[in-house]
Amino acid sequence: MGTERRSVGVVMNGVTGRMGYRQHLLRSILAIREEGGLPLADGTVLWPEPILVGRTAGKLQALAERHGLTEWTTDLAEALDRPGVEIYFDTQITGARTGAIRAAIAAGKHIYTEKPLADDLSGALELARLADEAGIKHGVVQDKLFLPGLRKLRRLVEGGFFGQILSVRGEFGYWVFEGDWQEAQRPSWNYRAEDGGGIIADMFCHWRYVLDEIVAPVRSVQCLGATHIPGRVDEDGKPYEATADDAAYGIFELDGGIVAQINSSWATRVFRDELVEFQVDGTEGSAVAGLRRCRVQHRSMTPKPVWNPDLPATEDFRGQWQEVPDNAEYGNGFKVQWEAFLRHVAEDAPFKWDFHAGARGVQLAELGLRAWREGRRLEVPELT
Ligand SMILES: NC(=O)c1ccc[n+]([C@@H]2O[C@H](COP(=O)([O-])OP(=O)(O)OC[C@H]3O[C@@H](n4cnc5c(N)ncnc54)[C@H](O)[C@@H]3O)[C@@H](O)[C@H]2O)c1
Repeated sequence: MGTERRSVGVVMNGVTGRMGYRQHLLRSILAIREEGGLPLADGTVLWPEPILVGRTAGKLQALAERHGLTEWTTDLAEALDRPGVEIYFDTQITGARTGAIRAAIAAGKHIYTEKPLADDLSGALELARLADEAGIKHGVVQDKLFLPGLRKLRRLVEGGFFGQILSVRGEFGYWVFEGDWQEAQRPSWNYRAEDGGGIIADMFCHWRYVLDEIVAPVRSVQCLGATHIPGRVDEDGKPYEATADDAAYGIFELDGGIVAQINSSWATRVFRDELVEFQVDGTEGSAVAGLRRCRVQHRSMTPKPVWNPDLPATEDFRGQWQEVPDNAEYGNGFKVQWEAFLRHVAEDAPFKWDFHAGARGVQLAELGLRAWREGRRLEVPELT
């Protein structure tokens, strides 16, 4: 006797892009199919059927053929209209997102989308309102919460490891090549404000849920942005002006007087163990969490360095930290969140990362940009 399989059509818009292809199609939807589908509580198996949508027929066709898929189109309306389609997923460039999501809401589809939900807060809140009114289910990618390093950090917080948390220091970034003598490893729209680019719009959405959910709710923001590299060369070898910020130096006050400081930069060279790292200091202990690793130093194991610049450092400071064990299997973070969203749609399982959560991310980005422009510290009001 075979298990009963239930198909669910998922329109995936923007799958020719970096995130869309690798993380969402390959590592999530196709990976779920390779595992035989997603088992539901009632014993049936959910089988996602992707319909690839994009702007260039040739690229879509080649991509579909490479993975044995047959369904693709350049016409979003036609895709949404196909029988069996229940979910719309958007991983287009940010500036193209709002119009497509509106169309999907009007078509009555459940919606999952990459962040940022919209270009600005009013746009994000409007999408949340329209989605609620339509009675559809909605979600926004918040992948960092599902990274092994940050899951271990959360476990430490929940287990009371830190005592009172005092501060958080985050370092994110790496050198993104300018595109002249070496190709850039990120798309050029990221460096153009008019196309929805900029590191504040991109990363503050992430910092919002990381801080809110793992440490404490964000109450205020100060931010200094910069465009360190004023001109770059695009995918076609054409020089262009970088109109968006490529670095952001942010300070956030969290509930309980916790101070978080996060540097985000595409113009820095990495002298760290991972591309993002957060150090959390508490009265009882400290931790440094990255994408995969998490290391701790307890109060009882804290050395007593004495400042003496006349002598070379003799202590191996990094060696004085302990690795936090995994104690669990962590799948790909994007896939884990996809599975949660699919269960939310198919069997009404809880899913808290909805358009309202997405709007909070956009809110912090918008306030960060304003704080920079106005040279002020801004409160982060609750969204109702
Ligand atoms: N969650 C994460 O960690 C994370 C990381 C990077 C990017 N993102 C988000 O994913 C989305 C896509 O980013 P990406 O890095 O994959 O970008 P990308 O440039 O690689 O892909 C963009 C996709 O959008 C499509 N598109 C639609 N209209 C377009 C237009 N006018 N110009 C150019 N492309 C257009 C492209 O065909 C392509 O499929 C963005 O919203 C970005 O914020 C999320």
